[in-house]
Amino acid sequence: MTDLATTLTHTFQQHFGAAPAFIVRAPGRVNLIGEHTDYNDGFVLPLAIDRAVWLALRPRDDDTVHIISLDFDAPVHFDLNTMTRAAESPAEYVKGVAWALRGAGCALRGFEAVMQGDVPIGAGLSSSAALELAIARSFASVSGLAWDAPHMARLAQKAENEWVGVNCGIMDQMIAATGRAGFAMLIDCRTLALTPAPLPAGVAVVVLDTGTRRGLVDSAYNERRRQCEAAARFFGVAALRDVTLAQFQAQAHALDDLTRRRARHVISENERTLTAARVMQAGEVAALGALMNASHDSLRDDFEVSSPALNAIVDIARQQPGCYGARMTGAGFGGCAVALVAADAAATFATATASAYQTATGHTPAVYICHASDGAAVLAGG
Ligand code: GLA
Repeated sequence: MTDLATTLTHTFQQHFGAAPAFIVRAPGRVNLIGEHTDYNDGFVLPLAIDRAVWLALRPRDDDTVHIISLDFDAPVHFDLNTMTRAAESPAEYVKGVAWALRGAGCALRGFEAVMQGDVPIGAGLSSSAALELAIARSFASVSGLAWDAPHMARLAQKAENEWVGVNCGIMDQMIAATGRAGFAMLIDCRTLALTPAPLPAGVAVVVLDTGTRRGLVDSAYNERRRQCEAAARFFGVAALRDVTLAQFQAQAHALDDLTRRRARHVISENERTLTAARVMQAGEVAALGALMNASHDSLRDDFEVSSPALNAIVDIARQQPGCYGARMTGAGFGGCAVALVAADAAATFATATASAYQTATGHTPAVYICHASDGAAVLAGG
């Protein structure tokens, strides 16, 4: 067992006087390429990281849920039959998943649990999707539900959209549900078809947290969604996924400048993402790095969701020896960048990038060398 699983088992025993029946884990994620494409029915290429939310749990005989969290101040405690929405807190993600599962016809049992995670919260590494999938996996374990990963991802997204009220796409929940150790996952966000893409040998995926957070990210995100929908209407299609670069080039002159740039990002990013999955199959690391660089430039100039801090850390990363490419990752405006680095240069890269970034901007970064891990799973008792 990992250290976290051992701690949780021990704490569970102290609180509940018996061993847990199950231990479940669901990971955070970093996206290699395919940004702001998921809500355009497009393609993404994320990997599940080796940071996760864990629960040790056992079923209860009633319909209540009791979770002692080692990370949050307040325990989560509610009755499945009388749940109501409250101000945003971790408990709302738990209730939201219960609500979505019940809405899909699942008969749920209550459970008691000890929970802990090591996905940094609010950094853009999808700690909320990790929490949602860990809770879904917990309910599935104690209630004897069949585990259909893409279906569970859809229900977790529904919980976030409709219970918590955050208008996210499907990427984060899908990769938390379906990640595979050693692989990134090409996800078709329309059909939810999955194609594993092996991480090339000898490279490290390095997450660079700028240490900056932007409060207005939700409104900017929703604005981008509306602009993409307007562009899709212009082309007469359901989503920008349905427009090829050739079609775009033929008709783009009739679009206003802003909508043209938003559409150009999404349409070109879909092509880059499909190409990235192909070059990964062929082990072409330099080509993958170049696609990541082009993705960042498009997010910065056309989609306008980068930030000075993200641009600074990306520029610094690209100058370091052993770096194949770097880009912002996630929604943008702050949070993290991701770099593809020669594995034997990764430790030096991490120190040099962090110190040059801190000197240039005054922000304190965090750096994580990540390993691609499995999606939501039952590790013991399942
Ligand atoms: C956030 C959302 C995702 C996706 C990304 C941008 O992480 O939760 O669904 O839209 O932004 O690619």
